[in-house]
Amino acid sequence: MSAETTPAELLDEAKVMEEVVSLCKRRGFIFQASEIYGGLRSCYDYGPAGVELKRNVKALWWRDVVTARSDVVGLDSAILQSPRVWEASGHLEGFTDPLVDCKDCRKRFRADHLDGDACPECGGALTDARDFNLMFQTHMGPVEEEGTAVYLRPETAQGIFTNFSNVLTSARMKPPFGIAQIGKSFRNEITPGNFVFRMREFEQMEMEFFVPPSDEQHWYEHWKAERMDWYVRYGADPGRLRWRDHDADELAHYSTACADIEYRFPFGWSELEGVACRTDFDLKRHQEASGKDLSYFDQQEGERYLPWVIEPAAGVDRAALTFLVDAYDREDTGKEIRTVLRLHPELAPVQVAVFPLVRKEGMPEKADEIVAALRGRFRVATEAKQSIGKRYRRQDELGTPFCVTVDGDTITDDTVTVRDRDSMEQERVPVAELETVLAQRAAAWSRSR
Ligand code: GAP
Repeated sequence: MSAETTPAELLDEAKVMEEVVSLCKRRGFIFQASEIYGGLRSCYDYGPAGVELKRNVKALWWRDVVTARSDVVGLDSAILQSPRVWEASGHLEGFTDPLVDCKDCRKRFRADHLDGDACPECGGALTDARDFNLMFQTHMGPVEEEGTAVYLRPETAQGIFTNFSNVLTSARMKPPFGIAQIGKSFRNEITPGNFVFRMREFEQMEMEFFVPPSDEQHWYEHWKAERMDWYVRYGADPGRLRWRDHDADELAHYSTACADIEYRFPFGWSELEGVACRTDFDLKRHQEASGKDLSYFDQQEGERYLPWVIEPAAGVDRAALTFLVDAYDREDTGKEIRTVLRLHPELAPVQVAVFPLVRKEGMPEKADEIVAALRGRFRVATEAKQSIGKRYRRQDELGTPFCVTVDGDTITDDTVTVRDRDSMEQERVPVAELETVLAQRAAAWSRSR
């Protein structure tokens, strides 16, 4: 760090969001959707780097919540469901936000987000609040007529509840057990914003964990601990994470407890994930509305009951944004200010970048050989253009933890230089040991700020 530049000047919270958005575009993480047509507000596309990051977020969640355990199974339900699902779940009637319009400037606001009773933009008078349903409606079949309306799901959870009996019998599960699902959800949010934090089309990772009613508290604490650990395990700063318990008046009437994991984004503390006790509300409502028995018969205890539910509900985009913002760093190397994404190696879109120092003397061929050997184990990229320094900086911005350089010596002694993203230290490693050294370093990675 040079004497003139303080860490606070390098990482100005007010500018971090802007800088992350610009890095996301520059390096192919996230683009505005329909950009060539002027964009579609609150909709984003994930580019080559972003899609890898997002897939890694989902794969790690699936691994830790589903495949690493024997008490959770997966599901992939349809986005379009019978409208009766949303009637029973209460979404048709109650999934609303109170809306007001300004009579002068015609801008629209959420009534519960306003402090006063006059327009925050122009001071004009506001209309009375009216309920606005957040579900997107469309029509099934070629004719738009009454009775053909269907809705894009506003959460993945309901597809899990409606399949409870199917999973119970086909996968031979018994409470306590969970059903997990990752997929797109849609909400016609009135005030989307903050990049991918609040969008109208987004992706959720939800798990409904079905338990005997008396075990509710135990499993609530279990999932709260698991989920907070998960974000820390993949590099999020524990100092920027906290729990926020819902007050009694915030809780849905059927819920006995709910807490949000919040992250301190550059725009303030905001919800990253919710963990909720949903009691037997959803199963009961679907049982009543469908007339199908959704209870579980415990043969050992000789009793039949509707299981209660603990639900950890996370957003893929919010998790990806958290890891991006958290990993974002600017550092004075003494020679220049470098921008680096200190992503966990398991999250990094590219884990190893292999560079031939120059495009001659057998170096590109040797680099290709190394790429082919590492590809089965790591996400690998190679580039040969520009100076080695520029190539390092590009990979720093992509969050690539290791760069491997093939130079003149490689051709004679079969060693390469491994450069560490975080420390920028370089070490000479025999090609024969490269895979093992990289795997060890990736496994030993820890947050170093
Ligand atoms: N089934 C419960 C449920 O859907 P939620 O708190 O409304 O609960 C769960 O949503 C998670 O989904 C949120 O914590 C957030 O991470 C993500 N999420 C919700 N609305 C979102 C939006 N408009 N844009 C991006 N992510 C969103």
